Amino acid sequence: MGKNINHIGVFTSGGDSPGMNAALYAIAKAAEINGIQVSGIQKGYEGMIDGNFIPMEPQQLQKTVHRGGTILKTSRSARFLTIEGRLMAMEMLQKNSIDSLIAIGGDGTFRGLLAFSELCKLPFIGIPGTIDNDLAGTDYTLGFDSAVNTAIHDIDKIRDTAESHNRIFLIEVMGRDSGYIAINSGLGTGADAILVPESGKDFIRLLNKLRNYDSEEAFIVVVSEGDELGTELVAAKIKEVNPQVDLRITKLGHVQRGGNPSASDRMLGIRLGVASVKALLNGKRNVMVGILNNELVLTPFGQVIKRHQVNQELQKLLKMFGS
Ligand code: F6P
Repeated sequence: MGKNINHIGVFTSGGDSPGMNAALYAIAKAAEINGIQVSGIQKGYEGMIDGNFIPMEPQQLQKTVHRGGTILKTSRSARFLTIEGRLMAMEMLQKNSIDSLIAIGGDGTFRGLLAFSELCKLPFIGIPGTIDNDLAGTDYTLGFDSAVNTAIHDIDKIRDTAESHNRIFLIEVMGRDSGYIAINSGLGTGADAILVPESGKDFIRLLNKLRNYDSEEAFIVVVSEGDELGTELVAAKIKEVNPQVDLRITKLGHVQRGGNPSASDRMLGIRLGVASVKALLNGKRNVMVGILNNELVLTPFGQVIKRHQVNQELQKLLKMFGS
């Protein structure tokens, strides 16, 4: 059992995602119940290097469960990519008697943890926190559900104006290398086409579909920002084929990262937060806590970061409805 766990350091890193605050609350609460101290590390790896540590009080944190963003703040740290940065971070952890770490973030955060684990021998546990849903070892990452809900809400609104003007709309959603937000928000809004980085043929299918486009109707295309052509080029190519079309581009952007977390993300944060403390107490190290088929699972860091793929069922849906 992890009897050496007396002081956990917790941080959020990379892009913020709704549900992070719920996870922080759950960590603080589970630790308190087990008589463990928790320090929050501000601004992710940056704060670790600079020694920006604050106490984590469950009584305060419980009032933040409903809030988007991360109360610990976050960053993408260039300094932590260097060995000097990681050495400074390790020194700060030692100085503050931190004996274990819980990190909440996406693929960059896990890459950081992997590199750090070669140097620093403290037990680390990761929680998947990114709107992109692009980590293996969990069905859903924290924030994904909220981001899709935000995107759906906005696309519905765009449809109203698209239908009023009979316009083609290219709506760009987030997902650096992952089409998950595009697929879910596109299917959920009855989009006419969905372009994602995981599918090479979707653009050809879109062009074929547009051959029969009747300019007396709206046409909604949801484009993942990671799409290989990119939204502007797709727009230009559509115009090339059919210069008459009335086309607009809307990029939803960072609005997808903000806002109150959905019910699912709040629950996911609570479950994964408690599970991360339990994992440390059970002597686990260098694993991510996730939920697969509604069961808590632990996955070694090395297996968490993978080239993102869309499963077969979703691919079929994409073909059926999305292009
Ligand atoms: O990783 C989450 C994410 O929102 C991606 O979807 C997007 O590509 C990226 O972060 C944007 O990062 P930044 O906020 O640093 O511009």
